[in-house]
Amino acid sequence: MLKLGILGSGAGSNMQSIVDAIGNGELDAEIKIVLADVPDAKILERAKNHGIPCRYLDCAPWKTKLEGAAEEKCIGILKESGVDTVVLAGFMRIVKPKLLAAFPNRVVNIHPALLPAFPGVHSWTQALDYGCKVAGVTVHFVDAGTDSGPIIVQKAVEVLEDDTPETLHARIQIQEHAAYPEALRIIAAGNYAIEGRRVKIAKS
Ligand code: GRF
Repeated sequence: MLKLGILGSGAGSNMQSIVDAIGNGELDAEIKIVLADVPDAKILERAKNHGIPCRYLDCAPWKTKLEGAAEEKCIGILKESGVDTVVLAGFMRIVKPKLLAAFPNRVVNIHPALLPAFPGVHSWTQALDYGCKVAGVTVHFVDAGTDSGPIIVQKAVEVLEDDTPETLHARIQIQEHAAYPEALRIIAAGNYAIEGRRVKIAKS
C-alpha cells in the first residue's frame, strides 16, 4: 500500500480524485499527510473534510521554490508521517534536490500539457495560443529540472475550435483526475522500471 504525502497550493481537485480512487477501492494507498504552502488553500479544507491530517507549510522567504528551512521541515513532516511517495498536486513551487534525495524516484507531479511541450505555468493557454489541435496531461516522476522527469502516464485532450483557456483547462482537468490515480496504481503495483527517461510498465 502506498503511503502518500500530498503537496498542493490550490483547489485540490487532483487530491480529491486520489481520495475518491482510494475510497472506490481503485487505488491501494493511504494519504498520510497533506501540506499546502498557502494558508487558506482549498486543498487543506478538503483534506480536513475527509479527516486527513493536513498542515500549512510556511515556505518563506522563497516564493517559487521549496528550499532551506522550509524544505527541511517538509522532509521532516513527510518522514514522521510515514510517507513513501510524494505527490505534487498543484504545488506551485520547484522542489529541490534535497527533497528528491529523501524520496528517490518517489516524487511525482501532474502537469496540464503533453510534455515536453509547454512546461511551466498556464500550459493550456500556451497550447491554445500556439494553435495546437491536441493538448493534454502528463504525470511524471520529478527530477531536478522543471516538468522534465520520466513520464508515467499521458492523456490527450482535443482542442475545440471555440475553446477558451477556461473551457480547455476544464476538459484537461477531467483527464487529470483519471491520470493521477492511474499513475499511482502503476507505482503501487510496482511492475515498472525506470530506464533512463523511459518508464517501462510490464503488462499485468
Ligand atoms: C492542475 O491543473 C495541475 O495540473 C497543475 O495545477 C492544477 C492543480 O489543480 N499542476 P488542483 O489544485 O488539483 O485542483
